[in-house]
Amino acid sequence: MADWYQLLVEDLPYVNHIADIVHTTLPERPEVFEEKVRLFPAGCQKLVSEKNIVGYGISHPWMHYSIPPLDEFLHKLPEASECMYLHDVVVLPEARGRGASGRYVDYVKGVAREMGITRLALVSVYGTDTLWSRFGFKVVQNHSLDLKLISYGCSAKYMVCECND
Ligand SMILES: CC(C)(COP(=O)(O)OP(=O)(O)OC[C@H]1O[C@@H](n2cnc3c(N)ncnc32)[C@H](O)[C@@H]1OP(=O)(O)O)[C@@H](O)C(=O)NCCC(=O)NCCS
Repeated sequence: MADWYQLLVEDLPYVNHIADIVHTTLPERPEVFEEKVRLFPAGCQKLVSEKNIVGYGISHPWMHYSIPPLDEFLHKLPEASECMYLHDVVVLPEARGRGASGRYVDYVKGVAREMGITRLALVSVYGTDTLWSRFGFKVVQNHSLDLKLISYGCSAKYMVCECND
């Protein structure tokens, strides 16, 4: 079974390769990924199977109801974080079906709790909202969020998970 480990800056060429394969309609520059790994390494994990990177997860502290535009720099993390924001989770097809995304969500919940953060947030794309709802995420919808979701494509939904539920 594949396991999650700390993602390092030197792993990023593999991560970018995976992102290029999976996110053909939602591309991001390598330096945008790298900024997140440097700003908040504790939120970044790689999924490894037989020494190969077969997935990754990238999260960082953020503000509630705030959605970083895709492919733009964060510049800095908020001084008072209101949620842990799951920016991206990818598992390559050969490693899917074994609960990897759920284990990454559990990991991020643990990081959040250690920081006193009780809420996770993400933008679900490609119809994955049903998957995230299994882990406790619920869709939050309003007009101002709809405007912020534009860069994520028409399937995008903002979802929130209360860690204490
Ligand atoms: C989303 C993802 C990380 C989940 O990987 P995983 O943890 O191995 O989970 P699985 O692929 O086994 O999927 C678990 C369940 O979610 C469902 N699911 C996965 N992707 C889905 C999608 N795009 N739309 C709807 N359901 C989806 C699966 O059908 C499966 O349902 P089942 O248990 O009833 O068979 C992986 O499918 C992936 O990398 N997808 C492409 C990138 C992506 O969508 N990332 C999330 C962006 S928000």
